[in-house]
Amino acid sequence: MAVREILTYPHPNLRKAAQPVERVDDEIRKLVEDMAETMYAAPGVGLAANQIGVLKRVFVIDTATDDEPSQLRVFINPEIIEANGTQTWSEGCLSFPGASEDIKRAEQVVVRALDAEGQPFELEAHGLLAVAIQHENDHLDGVLMIDKLNALKRRLLSSKLAKQAKARSSADSEQPRV
Ligand code: NI
Repeated sequence: MAVREILTYPHPNLRKAAQPVERVDDEIRKLVEDMAETMYAAPGVGLAANQIGVLKRVFVIDTATDDEPSQLRVFINPEIIEANGTQTWSEGCLSFPGASEDIKRAEQVVVRALDAEGQPFELEAHGLLAVAIQHENDHLDGVLMIDKLNALKRRLLSSKLAKQAKARSSADSEQPRV
């Protein structure tokens, strides 16, 4: 396993659509292991393959809090097949260091995907897990949290990120970063 470099906005790979995984083989399992290790090291609650420069439809999520046992969830070729209700979370993203923005998303989703063994599963998620699934699924389509903001907030975040890039001393954010 290896901790991989996380690409930060505006890296062009973050804007590219990831391609479906044709076969869940050792190469994909190695990718999943690296992604999990990279996510935990960050630390973050989710990571999409685009964020380490691999354009495959894979993301990992672990929304367990510090006092809960870790629960790694692996999603390969995910599809959100149902989305209901609304919720607003203050979201972060490992590709937007230090940023946290209120973003409105569905409260509940049903996702269909393959796990790390290539087995199909369906999962109904609410709350933070539902947010993380939507956020990571967006990454696979090259869609980023900044796209969810209105024009003013987008400009503010862009200029904040530009300033931070200059003075990157990385004081860790309290917000979950996905
Ligand atoms: Ni993200």
